[in-house]
Amino acid sequence: MPLIPVLQDKRVVLGVSGSIAAYKAVALASALTQAGALVDVAMTHEATELVRPLSFQAITHRPVAVDMFHLLAETEIGHVSLGLNADAIVVAPATAHTLAKLALGLADDMIATTVLASRAPVLVAPAMDANMYQHPTVAEHLEVLRQRGCAILEPGYGHLASGLVGRGRLAEPETILEAVRAVLGRRGDLAGWQVVVTAGGTQEPIDPVRFVSNRSSGKMGFALAEAARDRGAHVILIAANVALPDPYGVEVRRVRTAQEMAEQVLEAVPGADALLMAAAVADYRPEQPAEHKLKKRSEELALRLVPTTDILASTARAGFTALRVGFAAESEHLLEHARAKLEQKGLDLIVANDVTLPGSGFGADDNKVTILGRDGLERDLPLLPKLQVAYAVLDQVRRLRGGAPDVGSFDRLRSFDRLRMSGGRGDAETYSSPPDFGRPT
Ligand SMILES: Cc1cc2nc3c(=O)[nH]c(=O)nc-3n(C[C@H](O)[C@H](O)[C@H](O)COP(=O)(O)O)c2cc1C
Repeated sequence: MPLIPVLQDKRVVLGVSGSIAAYKAVALASALTQAGALVDVAMTHEATELVRPLSFQAITHRPVAVDMFHLLAETEIGHVSLGLNADAIVVAPATAHTLAKLALGLADDMIATTVLASRAPVLVAPAMDANMYQHPTVAEHLEVLRQRGCAILEPGYGHLASGLVGRGRLAEPETILEAVRAVLGRRGDLAGWQVVVTAGGTQEPIDPVRFVSNRSSGKMGFALAEAARDRGAHVILIAANVALPDPYGVEVRRVRTAQEMAEQVLEAVPGADALLMAAAVADYRPEQPAEHKLKKRSEELALRLVPTTDILASTARAGFTALRVGFAAESEHLLEHARAKLEQKGLDLIVANDVTLPGSGFGADDNKVTILGRDGLERDLPLLPKLQVAYAVLDQVRRLRGGAPDVGSFDRLRSFDRLRMSGGRGDAETYSSPPDFGRPT
């Protein structure tokens, strides 16, 4: 897993209570650690009956706090110091018992004292039998926690250890990780912003079963949406034919055609601070889609194509104040074509990527881009995971709107050595320290 800037060097306390789902917390601890967080695990005694502390210690390389009366001697962690130093606390799984303690303010174990002693944002991920979860007492405790600003990650529906089928399954570790990112974003440098992102490739119908489209996977747009969410923005993601699940904490609107995308963008963009157009929108569509499936014949078939709505041009005409970022996927004369598009569309920034490079662009997990700005900016980035490219783009958006990027920005990534260790490839190997992306040239 690549480093996730918002998690890098953040102190995340993972509270594990005595649910059968405690084993999933091991995968969560691993994912948080790989993403760059310093993970301190606090367990209840009941949790240690189900998973051994050593599993967490081996993964986090940090001592696990269980018994507050033995902490000082054994680990030099006081019963409140974990909470005081935390950037975020996640209780996963949270049992009915632990939720009750948190709601009432009881303080007889390491999770409860840590939460009380901390002012960091708290996320709880309940896990229990479906009948327990539906019990009014549990619902009331969750409501108390919600009222206090605690984020609640609803359990999923499915087979439970009790044999019942119902709601009570602990959310999956990757969803919990995303929720931790969103919770950290509450203090991010885009808090209070509204960001609109487009992603994917539009499909223009030829007949009821065929269409004209392109190879966009939507990964870059989804990465932008996640990065903006990580930094605190309210994100509206308009996705055309993307096979990826909705990112946690993002408002997703699914569309099919360029026309549907244009309508959604025009509806979302008033009041937005930034519009990031990463979708590959068809330039042309079949003029007259056939009402019924076309039959195979021996003669040629000619399709007449007409231009689609130019979405960026319509947002300019409509006079919105959002900072506008376009993407240029090119197979030749990359920077020349990108600069021309920047000018023609009156964009503030354009992200140029060469779609012919192996391991970059359409469908790939990484991207090799150059960010060009109307103010003369030209930033050539190495091949990077798309999430990190997204952070770098947002750093420039933030700069143009008059603020230095801070929390979780791409600049803060430790070094490209870490990227290499965690799966970054290619050009990144030629760097020993992060280049300066934050300031204008
Ligand atoms: C095998 C086993 C599995 C359990 N799973 C859960 C569970 O998923 N959710 C829950 O609320 N309680 C569960 N319990 C009950 C809790 O362990 C019990 O309420 C305990 O007091 C919780 O303490 P803690 O919240 O301090 O860890 C389970 C108990 C056992 C023996």
